[in-house]
Amino acid sequence: MLHTNLSVNSENHLTIAGQDTVTLAKTYGTPLMVMDEDRVRQNFRVYRDAMNQYFGGASRPLFASKALSCKYIYRLAGEESVGIDLVSSGELYTAVAAGFDVREAFFHGNNKTDGDIAYAMDCGVGHFVVDNLTELDRIDEEAGRRGVTQAVLLRLSPGIDPHTHAAITTGQVDSKFGIAIETGQADEAVAYTLNKKHIRLDGFHCHIGSQIFDITPFCDAAKLMIAYVAGVKNKFGYDTEILNLGGGFGVRYIKSQPILDYADFIRRIAAFIDEEVARSGIKKPTILMEPGRSIVADSCLTLYTVGGTKEIPGFKNYVSVDGGMPDNPRYALYQADYTVCLASRAKATPDFLCTVAGRCCESGDILQENVPLPKPERGDILAVLVTGAYNYSMASNYNRIPRPAVVAVKDGTVTPVIRRESFEDLIRNDL
Ligand code: LLP
Repeated sequence: MLHTNLSVNSENHLTIAGQDTVTLAKTYGTPLMVMDEDRVRQNFRVYRDAMNQYFGGASRPLFASKALSCKYIYRLAGEESVGIDLVSSGELYTAVAAGFDVREAFFHGNNKTDGDIAYAMDCGVGHFVVDNLTELDRIDEEAGRRGVTQAVLLRLSPGIDPHTHAAITTGQVDSKFGIAIETGQADEAVAYTLNKKHIRLDGFHCHIGSQIFDITPFCDAAKLMIAYVAGVKNKFGYDTEILNLGGGFGVRYIKSQPILDYADFIRRIAAFIDEEVARSGIKKPTILMEPGRSIVADSCLTLYTVGGTKEIPGFKNYVSVDGGMPDNPRYALYQADYTVCLASRAKATPDFLCTVAGRCCESGDILQENVPLPKPERGDILAVLVTGAYNYSMASNYNRIPRPAVVAVKDGTVTPVIRRESFEDLIRNDL
C-alpha cells in the first residue's frame, strides 16, 4: 500500500488506521474525509524531534495551517508543542477558538488588511512575517497606537527555482511574495525596519515552493539566506535571531514518488547549515520550518459513493462519484496526481481503465484520469488517498454542494471533527 496506515481487511475493504472505510462511509455518509490522528501526531513529532535534535536551540516546526485549518488540527498542534503559520484572520480566529496559544503563531500573507493587523494584535499573535514596507508602516503605526513593540520577520525572496508546479513556486525574484535580495530591496527594507520605533526585527523568512522532493533547493536557499544574514551583520551590525526556511517537503501521492525521510532531510540540511554558519562566522540563528502538506496529507483519505459508469467505446470510460472539485479542486487546478482505489472491493482485478469524474456541472470536474479500477458499480465506495493537505482547506460550495464531513480515527474509535455542511448552512448568509 501507498502508506503504512492503509491496508485491506478480510472483507476486501480498504482500511485506514485499522478502520474499515466501507463501514465509515455507511455510518457517516459520503463524501467523507477520514483522518488518522496518530499519523498526524507522528508527523508533528518527526519534525519537532528532528529539528530539536539537529538544529538545536529553540528550533521548532510551525504547522502551515493553510494545508488544513480547523479547530481539531490546532488542538493537535498545541498538544504536540508545535507552532503555527497563519495567513488570514479566519485561520487566526479558528486557532483562537481551538484554544491555541497564538504567541506561537506567525502571521503571513502578501496583503494583510488593516483589519487583519489590528485583529492579530488584539489576539497577541507572536510574529508578523512582513511581506512589504507599506504593511510594515501599518504594523508600526498600530503597535505605536497600542504602546507595544511588535516582533516581525521580513519575508525575502531568495531567487531559487525549486522545479515544482509553477502555481506553487514562490521563492523566485519576480514572485508576488516577499522582498527580493537580488535587487537590493531587501537591504533597504532591513535599514527601514531597524529604524521603526515600534517594531522589533527578529529575523528573516523565505519559502521556495511546495511538493519538493530534492534537498538541493532547500540547501541553496539556506546558503543564500545565511550569506544574507552575514551581509546584514556586516552592513548594519544586526544579529539575526530567527531564520525561517518555510515549508515545501514533498509527499507521496502515487507509487512512483518516494516516501521522504523528513528527519534525515532535516539532519542533512542542519549539517549543511552548520558548515555555512561556521564559514560565515555569524551567530547561529534559531531555525524554523513551516511544513504543511507533509504533516497532514498522508493522514487522510476521501471516500465517495459511486453513482455509475459511462463507457464511450473507442474513447474513454467515466466513473462518477458524489463529490469532486468542491471537496478536491487539486486535479482541476494543478493536474495533481492521486491514487484512487475501490475501497469496497480493494483487491478485485483492476481491469477497467477510467476517468474519475465529480458531480459538478463542469467538464473540468475530474478527480483523476487513467485510473485502473475493478469496474465500479453504483453503490461501491471509492477512495482517493492522501487528501489531508489542501483539500478541505481549498473546498468550495460550487454548485451549492455542501462541504463533506471529516472524522478522525484513533485506537479503534471514530471522532467527528468537522460536521457535514447542511443545506441550511448553504443559505445561512443569503438575505
Ligand atoms: N510557508 C509558506 C510561507 C507557504 O506559502 C507555504 C505553502 C508553506 C509554508 C507550506 O508548504 P508545504 O509544506 O505545505 O508544501 N494549494 C497548493 C499548495 C500551495 C502552497 C502554498 N504555500 C496545493 O494544493 O498543492
